[in-house]
Amino acid sequence: MISIAIDGPAGVGKSTVSKAIAKKLGFIYVDTGAFYRAIALFAVKNNIDEDNIRLYLQQISIEPKFENNLQSLYLNGEDITNQLRFEKISIMASRISAVPEVRDFLLNLQRNIALTNNVVMDGRDIGTVVLPHAAVKIFLTATTEKRAKRRYNEMIDKGEPADYNEILHNIIKRDSSDSIRKVAPLKPADDSVIIDTSEYNLKESIECVLSIINKKLKTSAKFNL
Ligand code: DC
Repeated sequence: MISIAIDGPAGVGKSTVSKAIAKKLGFIYVDTGAFYRAIALFAVKNNIDEDNIRLYLQQISIEPKFENNLQSLYLNGEDITNQLRFEKISIMASRISAVPEVRDFLLNLQRNIALTNNVVMDGRDIGTVVLPHAAVKIFLTATTEKRAKRRYNEMIDKGEPADYNEILHNIIKRDSSDSIRKVAPLKPADDSVIIDTSEYNLKESIECVLSIINKKLKTSAKFNL
C-alpha cells in the first residue's frame, strides 16, 4: 500500500489540496482532524471537558466510511460528518488533541486504514507519528494572515457571518496549542518536503504537491503515475 502524509497548521488548505490529490491518484482521502473533531463533538454534547475525556473513551466508537474517495464519519453509529466544522468543535478538538489517551485511542484507527488502502492522509502528526514510513511526506505552511484570509473568504463565499480578526485570533491560538503540546506536536518530519503556499493559489498548491509526489514516487520506483 502507498501512503502520502500531508501535515500542516490550521487553515493552510490541507484538506482541499489532499482531496484533490487523492482524487487524481485514485487513493482514499483520510481527514484525521475529523476523528479529533468527532471526540470533541462527543465531549461537547455530553458536557465533558478535556481533563476528563479519557474516562469516556471506551464509550466512543468512531467509524469512517469511504465512498468515491471521500470520508464520512460515524460516531456510535450516527453519521456526524456534517456536525464537525463548527468553531466550538474546532476549539474543543484542539484541546482534547493534547490528551495522550485520546491520541493513543486514534492511532490504530488511522494506521489500520493505511494498512489496507492507498491513502492521502492529512493531519498534524501523520509524517512524524502515525505513518513514519509514508512514501511521501509533505508539510504545508502559509502565513497566519494568509490562512485567516482564506478562511474568511471561504465563509463569506458560503454566506456565513465572518469576522477576520476573530478568525486570525483563533488560528493563532490553535497554532500555538497544536505546536506546544507535549505529545505529537505539530512539526514537519525530518524527511518531509516543506511547501510555503502563502503566494500560491489553490491550483498552484495542488500542482506543486503533485509534482513532488510524482518525483518521489518515481524515484522510489514504487508507483507509476
Ligand atoms: O485539521 P483540523 O482543523 O480538522 O483538526 C482539528 C484539531 O485536531 C486540530 O486543532 C489539531 C487536532 N489534530 C491533531 O492533533 N492531529 C491530527 N493528526 C489531526 C488533527
